[in-house]
Amino acid sequence: MSKISIVPAPSRVEPGEGMFVVTPDTVLVASGPAAEVAALFAAQIAPALGYTLPVVAAVDERPAITLMLTEGLIHLGVEGYHLTVTPSSVTARASQPAGLFYAAQSLRQLLPPEIFRSEAVEGVAWTLPCVEVEDVPRFRWRGAMLDVCRYFMPKSFVLRYIDLLALHKLNVFHWHLTNDQGWRIEIKKYPRLTEVGAWRKETLVGRLQYDSELVFDGIPHGGFYTQDDVREVVAYAQARHVTVVPEIEMPGHAQAAIAAYPELGNLAEPVEVCTYWGISENIFNAEESTIAFLQDVLDEVLELFPSEFIHVGGDEAPKKQWRESPAAQARIRELGLRDEDELQSYFIRRMDAYLTAKGRRLLGWDEILEGGLAENATVMSWRGVAGGVAAATSGHDVVMAPNTYTYFDYYQSADRDAEPLAIGGYIPLEAAYAFEPVCEGIGDAYAHHVLGGQGQLWTEYIAAPEHAEYMAFPRLCALAEVVWTPAERRDYADFLARLAVHLQRLDGLNVHYHPLE
Ligand code: ACM
Repeated sequence: MSKISIVPAPSRVEPGEGMFVVTPDTVLVASGPAAEVAALFAAQIAPALGYTLPVVAAVDERPAITLMLTEGLIHLGVEGYHLTVTPSSVTARASQPAGLFYAAQSLRQLLPPEIFRSEAVEGVAWTLPCVEVEDVPRFRWRGAMLDVCRYFMPKSFVLRYIDLLALHKLNVFHWHLTNDQGWRIEIKKYPRLTEVGAWRKETLVGRLQYDSELVFDGIPHGGFYTQDDVREVVAYAQARHVTVVPEIEMPGHAQAAIAAYPELGNLAEPVEVCTYWGISENIFNAEESTIAFLQDVLDEVLELFPSEFIHVGGDEAPKKQWRESPAAQARIRELGLRDEDELQSYFIRRMDAYLTAKGRRLLGWDEILEGGLAENATVMSWRGVAGGVAAATSGHDVVMAPNTYTYFDYYQSADRDAEPLAIGGYIPLEAAYAFEPVCEGIGDAYAHHVLGGQGQLWTEYIAAPEHAEYMAFPRLCALAEVVWTPAERRDYADFLARLAVHLQRLDGLNVHYHPLE
């Protein structure tokens, strides 16, 4: 009997005797919304099978894999599912399509790993071990952030990344779309954001050094997603039960936008799209006209992204220009604020009110706590967990994304010299697996404010999709188990044993993962 090696580990797995065999005679039985899940499952396994299992509405005498929506499983929630494999049939049941989709992802992983290959595989018996699985995710926010600003990532890779998230039952793709080094989303009302802001003339070579002259590559870099591209990505993600959460950075990390529209900044002289890494001093001014500009941008963003949460950044906004700008100082006085921190808080509160009025929820990095947290804000805790603890214990929802466990741009091997250049830090696979979103300091009383956790891929030192995969995997597999599997079922040794099989799946998909050490 083949061993069951599902990643992330399900809540409950009871192996049985024998196996079900998929053959060209097998049918998928499903109707209504379940038929859409069945059709996607059939398409996912068709290349390796060499044939597409037909989706039919009713059972006949052929061996069947049934996907069924049933109110009887309402207690498993929107994303939970039940799976029964016997020698004569396979039955996946859930109360909602998302749960059925996750059942299908588990079915893919019950099949031999060769099922993930992209061409017909010869000589493999397509068996599913008999088993009973009941599975419910631990957290509702199971995310992965991709920075496409420091290096533009082609749409084809964004789609592939979403596929890989869905395979791991991750359900939020946090798309970091604007930063100092590039503005990557078309905004119809302000075309210069991409005409100018999506392109930089060159890029820093090697790591940012503070004590020696910077060296640049002389190679222009850029790119952006049209609104048609964005709609395509959002629809693709939706079909895989992944929510795309866009991030539009403000008031900091704004240099590319200010390069496009200098009136958004604080200086008299123009700036160019940033060509090196670090924290730019060029932040948005807090004039009414700039707030209106950004709300216009958000209007187009809201049209494109149906997600409940909209990320407005808020991190790393140096206040130097506000301190030195007579206009910013006048604004602080006019608004009756104490200092620059309170001006940032005012800025974010304005966005919070705007998004709330439109039925959405503002999300920001933990710096939005400085100067006072906006009323309806949700906090993404990145500088460790302190911001998340402070926000959760004051009654705000939080997403845990601490740089101590979830920054997958950090080194993953102790032997740095053997690794491609990375931003620094050290988060080996075991540390990624040890992440606990309901950390010390939150306690039972506030645990419900922890929506979940998320892995980050900042791309200062990641110029190509293959390298992005190398940094993300297998640490994202570990993160997936942290946010999906019940805490008491987490077991690193067991994870490693399953991962050995799982990496064969990633081989089939040609994922350029970091080898196990
Ligand atoms: C961050 O890493 N600046 C959120």
